[in-house]
Amino acid sequence: MAEASSPTIWEELMSPLNIVLIAIIVYLVYKIVKSNFEGEVTVAAPPPRLPKLRKDLTVAELKNYDGTQPDGRVLLAVLGTIFDVTRGKRFYGPGGPYAAFAGKDATRGLATEKVAASETEYDDCSDLTPDEIASAKEWEDQFREKYDVVGRLLKPGETPNKYSDDESEEKKTQ
Ligand code: HEM
Repeated sequence: MAEASSPTIWEELMSPLNIVLIAIIVYLVYKIVKSNFEGEVTVAAPPPRLPKLRKDLTVAELKNYDGTQPDGRVLLAVLGTIFDVTRGKRFYGPGGPYAAFAGKDATRGLATEKVAASETEYDDCSDLTPDEIASAKEWEDQFREKYDVVGRLLKPGETPNKYSDDESEEKKTQ
């Protein structure tokens, strides 16, 4: 009696069980590829950048830039220099961990490692130790690398500089 010939590879591949398995694999790969593609599409576009602001401000004026205004701009001051930290809104925006610095002079808080801004109308920080001033200076350097300079925080009685578009930042912040 002749033996039944063993199935060819093709016949094995096409067995009903394998067809079902292949269909499941194709379906799963399709779902994975589709979900990856959808993930890319739904990523929120970054908010449009605000026009560059060049201005010296008093402590009272600085308060208007705490991120709660319609344009959402956030400024803070360190050692007399005002920075536009809107790009760091996740830190300083409303509800952020460092929101206490938004629209404020952050010098004392950064120098003394307290997330709280000066309450006085103008804080000359003259009681800070040299180490604390050095620490604030490090923060200032860090901000200078990461954020745009807006201008100077005005002491009482000081008049604001006039900034023109072609003026260099160095000249403006003297
Ligand atoms: C337990 C203590 C603290 C931890 C674990 C911590 C952690 C962090 C982390 C993870 C970041 C984000 C860094 C990045 O993504 O670039 C950050 C940013 C920051 N931290 Fe803290 N922090 C602490 C205390 C403080 C204190 C005491 C101050 C100042 C008073 C401070 C001021 C800041 C500021 C200003 C930023 C934002 C810097 C920027 O604009 O790039 N932190 N902190």
